[in-house]
Amino acid sequence: MGTPCVLFVCLGNICRSPLAEAALRVEADKAGVDIVVDSAGTGDWHVGDAPDPRAQAVARRHGIDIGGYAGRQVTAEDFHRFTHIFALDAENLKNLRRIRPSDGTAELRLLMDMVPGREGTGVVDPYYGDDAGFDRAWDDVIRAAKATVAGL
Ligand code: 4NP
Repeated sequence: MGTPCVLFVCLGNICRSPLAEAALRVEADKAGVDIVVDSAGTGDWHVGDAPDPRAQAVARRHGIDIGGYAGRQVTAEDFHRFTHIFALDAENLKNLRRIRPSDGTAELRLLMDMVPGREGTGVVDPYYGDDAGFDRAWDDVIRAAKATVAGL
């Protein structure tokens, strides 16, 4: 089997999907498995931007520097480049279904579907909230990352 290539997609690509990317990098490293990981946004407002400082802070507290990540928008081509595309919530999943080319090969699903008991739920957007929202988002993405490393 080839190396899994995993793309996480949220709205802005500055809060949730960079955290999901970081969490999977951490868990894949720990497990010693080779996974290609990236993240993108359905929106284009933050193309080229570093992650939100609050997302950078929570990642740093968990041992990973995401200051060098740069926002980008998801493309139809991503459905050929990646083996798995995970939407951070239902709204982004809906938009990804629209973007998906008919011959796209990536498996598209909701991220929290990987976590038993959390199927069908989204990672809540912490952008307009407080720091605790970023801790909750980290908690969600690390659980999903562990399940992904175990289950891919
Ligand atoms: P994210 O959060 O989708 O988790 O990156 C957001 C970041 C920015 C915006 C919305 C959500 N925004 O509207 O700019």
